[in-house]
Amino acid sequence: MSFDLVFFGGTGDLTWRKLMPALFQAFRHGKLPEGGRILAVARDEQTDERYREWLKERFREVDGAKRPTDEEFEKFGALIHYRRMDLSQPEHYQGLKDWLDARNADTVVLYLATSPHLFTGICQQLGAVGLNHAKVRVVLEKPLGHDLASAQEINRAVRSVFAESQAFRIDHYLGKPSVQNLMALRFGNALFEPLWRRESIANIQITLAERLGVGTRGAFYDGTGALRDMIQNHALQLLTMIAMEPPSSNDADAIRDEKLKVLRSLKPFTAESVARDVVRGQYRAGSIEGKAVPGYLEEVKVPPDSQCETFVALRTEVNNWRWAGVPFYLRTGKRLAERDAQIVVNFRQVPHKIFPGGSQPNRLVIKLQPEDGLELQLLAQKGASHGEQLTPVSLDLDFDKAFATQRVGAYERLLLDAIAGRLNLFVRSDEQEQAWRWVEPILDAWEADTSGPRPYSCGSWGPAAASALVARDGFHWAEEQ
Ligand code: BG6
Repeated sequence: MSFDLVFFGGTGDLTWRKLMPALFQAFRHGKLPEGGRILAVARDEQTDERYREWLKERFREVDGAKRPTDEEFEKFGALIHYRRMDLSQPEHYQGLKDWLDARNADTVVLYLATSPHLFTGICQQLGAVGLNHAKVRVVLEKPLGHDLASAQEINRAVRSVFAESQAFRIDHYLGKPSVQNLMALRFGNALFEPLWRRESIANIQITLAERLGVGTRGAFYDGTGALRDMIQNHALQLLTMIAMEPPSSNDADAIRDEKLKVLRSLKPFTAESVARDVVRGQYRAGSIEGKAVPGYLEEVKVPPDSQCETFVALRTEVNNWRWAGVPFYLRTGKRLAERDAQIVVNFRQVPHKIFPGGSQPNRLVIKLQPEDGLELQLLAQKGASHGEQLTPVSLDLDFDKAFATQRVGAYERLLLDAIAGRLNLFVRSDEQEQAWRWVEPILDAWEADTSGPRPYSCGSWGPAAASALVARDGFHWAEEQ
């Protein structure tokens, strides 16, 4: 199958940091279909050769094991082309179309790795020159909108040019092997499904914690914040995969229909419930791994009086028969104690105790990163004496070890899926809009409440109020137990 893959934003950070290295991995693993061309388009005037040299330089900044040798780059580089385009000029789109038509590949993937404010204009221009025919797919990078209205506007523009089946909205969390494994855990095994409901589960906690601060992204981040950056997309996507009903098949729409139902069942926020159930925080100077790090307000390009949140913890519920009354706690933040993404499913206590001592309820920890694995926490008897207390033990699975050679990175997987036309791991417009609909009352309530985010020290687990949110229900975050 021949393909042409075009990166708009060909000299941007996303292209050289994530997309090209991911494509190179696919190439190295022999997974990139034969007969492919990769075209970077950007504003600068340069030749294919110069672009390849520039890219080769950039690769020096890529993680060692993922860096091509000179010989490998020689071969990979031969697939790469460069084209100058001013995205505001209609004739430049015609030029691109002519270039692509001259080859007439089986598939054309247009990856918009540009600032999202350009998406609408680019889609319109692509439509105007007929670069929306059946062989074309368009890939859209986040952030897709700033709120519901702007997301709808982008979706309207995309829909006026492309069919939904041609639109690939990226949420890179869906490309992570650990996240795909969630589907396998739930729907490839009969073991958990009977327990996967309110009768057996006390609460579910989704944590996406980062150690890094905003770094050089202060200007972007300050207009975004943690709710838009991590909760509206990544955390909610994880929640849908945990809470969804079994889909009738492994097809994109069967899955996305079920995910949408979860988003529609989420308990809507009101100004009152935002004040009670959502905690926002902002990091203050502190230390990470023994090194002093600045507070958010001291970061480059962050206004000194910014009220932007770098931490969010919230409590919600999924209002349906399976989950009614079960709290779902979502939490994300920058400059936290650890880099740790995990989902903790806390089961209920045994209904009647016959052993002495405390009885710790079972817990399933789905580890997404840095490790990728599963840990099932149980209670056991050592067998040392009659009447002994039970001891916590765990069944531990490390997928990185178990499947070491087969693992494929998130962008590699998503790029290969976009080339192959598989939509399972991409977000449909109605899902994305419903997620915005749900977070908007939080944004509105914050706008009206000038008290701003609560400070927390770098290297901590966020403001104390986040612990209180969970403690109010008689529970604790995993690291507090
Ligand atoms: C991105 C956010 O979507 O995800 C970043 O914009 C965040 O702020 C990143 O750092 C986290 O991704 P990962 O894969 O490192 O967990």
